[in-house]
Order: sequence, then structure tokens, then C-alpha cells
Amino acid sequence: MAIRRQKITIVGAGVTGATTAHWCASKELGDVVLVDILEGIPQGKALDLFEAGPIEGFDSRVFGTQNYSDTKGSDVVVVTSGVARKPGMSRADLLGTNAGIVRDVCQKAMAASPDAVLVVLTNPLDVMAYVALKATGLPKQRIVGQAGILDAARFRTFIAEAVGVSVEDVSALVLGGHGDSMVPLVRYAHIGGIPLSHFLSEAKIAELVQRTRVGGAEVINLLKISAYYAPGAALTQMVEAILRDKRRVAACSAYLEGEYGQKGIFSGVPVILGGGGIEKVIELELNAEEKAAFRHSADDVRAQMAELPPDLR
Ligand code: APR
Repeated sequence: MAIRRQKITIVGAGVTGATTAHWCASKELGDVVLVDILEGIPQGKALDLFEAGPIEGFDSRVFGTQNYSDTKGSDVVVVTSGVARKPGMSRADLLGTNAGIVRDVCQKAMAASPDAVLVVLTNPLDVMAYVALKATGLPKQRIVGQAGILDAARFRTFIAEAVGVSVEDVSALVLGGHGDSMVPLVRYAHIGGIPLSHFLSEAKIAELVQRTRVGGAEVINLLKISAYYAPGAALTQMVEAILRDKRRVAACSAYLEGEYGQKGIFSGVPVILGGGGIEKVIELELNAEEKAAFRHSADDVRAQMAELPPDLR
């Protein structure tokens, strides 16, 4: 039997889409198709990346296109297309614009690859994942939003730096919506299996939690555009977990139907991520404070959902 290469479609060839393509190709996770509405951009970035193969030693094919027929038969579709908020643009305007983009690209991409798992990055993330669900009618397991891996990576980076240990030994979990109301679970953070409280004072931990909450803004303030290396790395880890059915345990945005006391919204929860997408939502026992923070975060997502155009609610 011929072995088929796996195929990854990345919609949006902006900074995050291109960075994700870079990592997916260099890890040989599969062939990569980059899609964007801008004529020439996905083609140019894809060709440039493809030509790095002989030097970096990867055989992944990388191809850029405007045409969804080229994405046919993809195993994973990653959605990074959208616009950033511009001066004078209200949050509702941004939400409406990105919702329209996400609806359109998800419908086109899933028509070409009906069996794919859909990974959403476009912000506001938890709302856009909901739009993807509504627009495609896919089973909830096959739509997963990227948030918790990035937020936890930021927390892990700050912890490792503060303690002076390898980032590889730091484990952390950040739940809730992808925004200022995210819920870093200090109780579940550890270094090599040892609780964080062994290494850091409460005040220092609180400082790192706060830096994690505003981690996205810290980069934007410096760069004037959104972060893309760490988001691209997080997306790549999710693509790998799906394509290789690794059953990774990490926080991802998942559609909740009663878990954590929430119904009808996407929010960051610990999941098992594998070949079928979200194989399982892991329900943790939260304490009163964590529960309140999770609820507050879910209310925040719900308030944003209320700003969606009526046909997308
Ligand atoms: N179809 C395909 N691509 C589109 C569409 C569309 N309908 N609309 C916009 N795009 C493309 C843009 O042309 C651009 O190349 O999406 C890309 C977005 O890339 P960047 O502007 O570089 O944004 P990036 O930082 O990569 O972030 C992607 O994630 O953080 C969110 O909401 C933010 O929308 C942004 C998304």
C-alpha cells in the first residue's frame, strides 16, 4: 500500500500563518498549502520556504495559492486569516469583520477537506472557534482553538527564567478565554513534578501570573503587531498532535456542553488532543477562586459573542 503524505492547509499567509508553515515544513509534519486572498503572497512565501528544504534538510512540499481546490484532501486546516484592530475600529467592528472572514474560509476549506480537523487561531479566538462551528456544522470534537498552549508557554518561560531552570521541566496550565480574563492555574504548575510554591514566593508567582495575562500586549507594545513565533509554535504542536495522534494533554479552546458548568461556548480547558481532534475534555476539580475566575472568563466570551452579527450567533 502506498503511504500518503499528510497535508496541512494554513489559511492566512500573514506572519503567524507563514511561521506555522515554516515549523510544520521543517519538522516534516506533512506537505503544506498556504492560502491567502493577497495575490502572490502565499505563492511567494511558500516558494521561498520550499527552497529552504535542501539546506534545512526537509522534504515537505510547500505550495501557495488563492484556490481552495489546491487544499483538497487536507488532514488539518489551520485558520489564521483575519485583520488586526486598526485605530478607530471598534471591538464589535473587528469581531464582525473577522467573523465574516472565518465563516467564509472555514466553509471553503472544509468543502475541500470534509474530514479535516479545524484549528482556529484568529482573534477573538473563542468567539471565532464558535463561528467556525456554526459555519461548518462539524462535530464539536473537530474544531479546536489555539490559546492555552501559547498562554502556558508564556507562563512556563517566565517561571523558568525566574527560577533559573530549563523550560522543558516547567509544566503549567492556563484555562479560560484567550484574553485578559484567562485563568493561569498556579496550583497545577510544577517544575520537574515539584510544586511551584517550593521555588517562588506568592508575590513573585502573582507577578508572573500577571505578566502571563498581558503577555500578548507586552509583545504588541514592542513590535506594534501581534506575536507570531510563539503562536506559530503552539499551532505547530497542535498540528503534530493531530497528525501523529499523539494524544497530547494541553489546554485548548473546546466547545463546552456542560463541562466546567458552561454550555454553548468555546473556552480553554485541558483536553486530550489526538487524531480525531479533541479526544476528551478533562474535567478538573477547581477550587472556589478558580471556579469564579473561570466563570468570569466565560462571561467575557459570552459578552463578545453577543456582539456577533445575528446570523452567526
Ligand atoms: N482569506 C484568506 N486570507 C485572508 C482573508 C481571507 N478572507 N482575509 C485576510 N486574510 C489574510 C491577510 O491577507 C493576511 O495575510 O490573513 C492574513 C493575516 O495575517 P497578519 O495580518 O500577518 O496577522 P497575524 O499576526 O498572522 O494574525 C492572524 O490572528 O491574532 C489574530 O486576529 C488576529 O486576525 C489576526 C490573526
